Amino acid sequence: MEMAEFLIRGGKKIKGEIEVRGAKNSALKILPASILFANPIGITNLPLIEDVFRMLELLKALGIRVEKPNGRSLKLGGSEVKIGHLRSDIAERFRASIVLAGPLLAIGKTVTFPHPGGCVIGKRPIDIFLDGWRSMGAKIRSNKSSYTIEAKRLVGSQFIFRKVSVTATETLMLTAVLAHGKTVLKNAAMEPEISSLAKFLNKNGAKIKGAGTSTVEIIGTGGKLLRGGKTFQVIPDRIEAGDFLILGAALKSRLRVIKCNPEHLEAIITMLRAGGANIKSGHDWVEIRPGRALSGLDVTTREYPGFVTDLQAPFTVLMTQAMGDSMIFETVFDGRLNYVEDLVRMGANVTILDPHRVLVHGPTKLHGREIESPDLRAGLAFIIAAMVAEGNSVVKNIYQIDRGYEKIEERLQKIGADIRRVG
Ligand code: UD1
Repeated sequence: MEMAEFLIRGGKKIKGEIEVRGAKNSALKILPASILFANPIGITNLPLIEDVFRMLELLKALGIRVEKPNGRSLKLGGSEVKIGHLRSDIAERFRASIVLAGPLLAIGKTVTFPHPGGCVIGKRPIDIFLDGWRSMGAKIRSNKSSYTIEAKRLVGSQFIFRKVSVTATETLMLTAVLAHGKTVLKNAAMEPEISSLAKFLNKNGAKIKGAGTSTVEIIGTGGKLLRGGKTFQVIPDRIEAGDFLILGAALKSRLRVIKCNPEHLEAIITMLRAGGANIKSGHDWVEIRPGRALSGLDVTTREYPGFVTDLQAPFTVLMTQAMGDSMIFETVFDGRLNYVEDLVRMGANVTILDPHRVLVHGPTKLHGREIESPDLRAGLAFIIAAMVAEGNSVVKNIYQIDRGYEKIEERLQKIGADIRRVG
């Protein structure tokens, strides 16, 4: 296990520009799609993060040709898949590994994988994926450690999600593109990463309509590989952009977030403005400037276009600096409020109402401490808390942060943060 940690001295203002990288949650779906093509595809603006490296390792272990990245550009695929099971040492610890099962099933008729794990909230169920594959004619077997999915002939289906799921929507799209006939996914997730995945697939020969709305229609090729051959740019990471805006607001600093897509940031921008922040935006940038004193706000996490759950922890940190009470209601995940106890140890005044709701009373001073990241988003929230706090903090278990944020300390140093990686 990696023992590296971040040392952070808080209380410093920041200023300048910070660049947003390609979206983790998009790259992790575009990479596994490379299995579906007859010709290699190109990817640009790939974020160089640990989760992407894990996905590339899984692909290589399947026999997929992956060229050495040239900066953030990469060519891969167009080669035959040699085996139909995922390397379990990686997949067990990495939730997004399940995305690979979609195209593998579509190509090889069978796939075996361990229960996909990850961080604390990575260990969520996969029942909806399984229902989706069953609806297309697959049979599922499982034992204590793994699942085997088999389908002699995958047939397009009408599938209604009983719960909106981002990755299940994407994974079923990646299965349906090679199935026989038409698949209609209803109550599908509508995140920008999903429309982007559809654009990428369509550019490379797929027939998908409606991605980005709640009904997605896919015409399958009946087993034939997609053409491939084209290059695609990963969209900017809207979560990272939101984190940076929250950081600017928390430090009452002027910060310009560049290489982002403001259209994907409407929920967080609206929320920050409602709290008093002064925000301007252009074609691919958003700037936050010190506004009036921030006031407390209630926030409920929702599927897109609502307030994204990945910004819930950073936003809670921000609310510790706002005047008055804020109710934070996490509706998407269980266990995504566990980091709150550490915030309280740093001096925040937070009452836990139930497993899904906390009440923040602000503003309060925070004090530096030793804290451990439970997952990548709470990890980033701890970096923000440490930058706001008086004194020194140590953030541990930063593999969780490196999973989703490319060299975050270097980008924060450039805008004036006192943060160092040690160990
Ligand atoms: C994705 C994002 C994650 C984001 C989340 C919600 C990636 C790699 N991750 O996660 O950053 O926080 O969307 O926007 O894209 N569920 C089931 N059964 C299933 C699948 C999901 O019960 O088979 C539940 C989950 O436990 C959760 C809810 O559905 O409570 C929504 O999860 P989902 O949309 O699937 O999140 P991910 O796609 O895993």
